[in-house]
Amino acid sequence: MSLIEVAVEAARAAGAEINQRLPQDRDIRTKGFRDLVTDADVAAQDQLVAVIKGRFPHHGICSEEGLQAGDQGTVWVLDPLDGTTNYAHRYPAFSVAIGVVQDGELVVGVVYDPVRQQLFAAERGAGARLNGDTLRVSQTQAPIDALVALDFAREPAARAAQMAAMVRLSTHISTFRSCGSAALSLCYVAAGWLDAYFHCALCPWDVAGPAVILAEAGGQLTALDGAPWHYQLPSCLASNRVLHAGLLDALRT
Ligand code: IPD
Ligand code: CA
Ligand code: CA
Repeated sequence: MSLIEVAVEAARAAGAEINQRLPQDRDIRTKGFRDLVTDADVAAQDQLVAVIKGRFPHHGICSEEGLQAGDQGTVWVLDPLDGTTNYAHRYPAFSVAIGVVQDGELVVGVVYDPVRQQLFAAERGAGARLNGDTLRVSQTQAPIDALVALDFAREPAARAAQMAAMVRLSTHISTFRSCGSAALSLCYVAAGWLDAYFHCALCPWDVAGPAVILAEAGGQLTALDGAPWHYQLPSCLASNRVLHAGLLDALRT
């Protein structure tokens, strides 16, 4: 099986686990400031690891719930449940996010929304798809027409910086959305449903998978200050590419 086939199989297995646990009594704990973890995060991670290790026992796995790997060779970067706060509230917006890095380069991304059964998938150089249909970013030309999403950082200083960025953008764009899953939001930019997305405190597993999908759908990613993007950087501005320079200008005003 190819990397993308295994990523899809793993994402679907983790998504089924999350769906099955959603209506039940959940074990919800606090693991940090404004940061929750549930039984579903851990069970979904177990599903991902079982599928990946079953097919590729020698690949590294870096995953949010305590799994670390080096940078050498092939490394799977996993967010078993992106949108845990939503999940804990039964707010139906969360996803499983998988990125595969080979010798430092992102090569495969899969994001699965188990509620809507939407599977976003991309391989570097081979385009991006949603349930098999080709994905393309929006054609919105002017910032004033842009639907821009963000999610809110947990730490006070990062959240304040984000609110300041939001204020700066607010007079230049159409309006804002926030869905609570960074991975899903980035895929929505890839699908053209959102024109842009920004955050200033993400983790590698939030963005590794969706970044491949966004790039293959024609989108652009930089740091919030316009610096070159890397999946280990906390800040990101994602857009349909056309809007990127205008949004960066607005952020500087
Ligand atoms: C979080 C979500 C959220 C973002 C947070 C992330 P988690 O991931 O993507 O939208 O604002 O910064 O940590 O903890 O639910 O996997
Ligand atoms: Ca996450
Ligand atoms: Ca998570």
